[in-house]
Amino acid sequence: VESGRHGPLIGAVDQGTSSTRFLIFAAGSGEVLTYHQEEVVQRFPQEGWVEQDPMQLLDSVTTCISKAVDNLKNLSIASDDIKAIGITNQRETTVVWDKLTGQPLYNAIVWLDARTTSTVEQVLKRTPGQDKDALKNICGLPISEYFSALKLRWLLDHVPAVQHAANQHTLLFGTVDTWLLWHTLLFGTVDTWLLWKSKFFDIPSWVLPDIRSCSEVYGYLNDGPLRGVPISGVIGDQQAALVGQMCLARGQAKNTYGTGCFLLYNTGAQMVWSTHGLLTTVAYKFGASAQAVYAIEGSVAIAGAAVRWLRDSLGLLKKAEDVERLAGGVEDTGGVYFVPAFSGLYAPRWRSDARGTICGITQGTTSGHLARAALESVCFQTREILDAMEQDSGISISRLLVDGGMTTNDLLLQLQADLAGVPVGGGHSSGCSRIAASVRPVDSPLEQSNTPLRDSAFIIEPWVGDSLRYPNYASRNEVIECTGQLGVVELHESN
Ligand code: G3P
Repeated sequence: VESGRHGPLIGAVDQGTSSTRFLIFAAGSGEVLTYHQEEVVQRFPQEGWVEQDPMQLLDSVTTCISKAVDNLKNLSIASDDIKAIGITNQRETTVVWDKLTGQPLYNAIVWLDARTTSTVEQVLKRTPGQDKDALKNICGLPISEYFSALKLRWLLDHVPAVQHAANQHTLLFGTVDTWLLWHTLLFGTVDTWLLWKSKFFDIPSWVLPDIRSCSEVYGYLNDGPLRGVPISGVIGDQQAALVGQMCLARGQAKNTYGTGCFLLYNTGAQMVWSTHGLLTTVAYKFGASAQAVYAIEGSVAIAGAAVRWLRDSLGLLKKAEDVERLAGGVEDTGGVYFVPAFSGLYAPRWRSDARGTICGITQGTTSGHLARAALESVCFQTREILDAMEQDSGISISRLLVDGGMTTNDLLLQLQADLAGVPVGGGHSSGCSRIAASVRPVDSPLEQSNTPLRDSAFIIEPWVGDSLRYPNYASRNEVIECTGQLGVVELHESN
């Protein structure tokens, strides 16, 4: 086993809805040297409920770390080259545990879970105008089943063990990143909106974790083969994809196709408030004293989960990847449309009462048509997000940068390009060649048409013509140096 061959290494825990991964990168080149992945179990105990076992999530992380480190040793690379670890996670999924025992007090309530409909209704009753958007200019989010506050309120209202721990002051709440951190190390500042939120939702503030930036040392692993390695980065998986795509400048955007589908658009240091059903969120904050960078987000609940449903509930597929061949075996959907609103619809509609439907079925409908309609449904939902972004900003996106597990599916990307009417490409899974041809390099020493994206510079025109609606975004024709490997989204005036 050789030390230092690839320079310092970085480990990344990706705890997602469907699986956990631990990836080991060479810090200098960004190359993935090895990784290990484990599927995680989702439980559906009641209609609309989605749960996971927090201990299984934790175990899956330790297993992935151990196995990836074993792989590294098999490659004759020393594990003590791993100098730092980051965590990315499935964001809103809510965990409660007892701080004395470390045991979970209930299953994790997954972000997709829709059990809090009546909690939402109760909260709405005491909200000005009973308006689900009444908190949007404070926290950027509608009052919806999707977010953690309502899930925690539900747990406090319905689970005796949680109520007991709250009475004993031993209750802790966190999203999965906090749960993992708490179990791996020692765990300061409470953000004002969160405090305010806790008051609004009647949640005691001592139950809540501290708010920290995405990049600082939170502590050191206290067990396993990487004991002593600092955990120095924590960021939600969709925000991580934005950073991974090098969308670090205002006006850059990406769409990630995972269990759901999440389009994030970097709005720089300004919070932009959508009037068309999009969220305002922190994109990242690199360091405790750094300026936060914000994004608007279009969240789609069901993307890859529709394919998983075809596989697990209808038995149409052996493996999720088979969907491309099945859907590619037919010319079109034969008039079939699939609305996978399994637990309501997120952006831009925020309708928790919506349910899925498949329509247009005839005697001639085959499994291929259903598979193709499932892929199209992901693309139609993304199109709706793009339309909402355009209506909000008055500008249209001229190409779509994508990533996520589903982007290995070329047919999906082609359908997306056709339904969005823009080139689609980029992303780790799909390679960058698709977008390379249509990006305009400018004033770069490497501006030949075959220049790899990572060495090019591109014009982007953020918020062009948009100075009326968002006066802070008046700059035009900004030249952005793109030093990342994937390129940028280019915007142009919509008319
Ligand atoms: O908001 C939920 C989202 O972060 C889940 O991502 O990759 O597990 O579908 P993913």
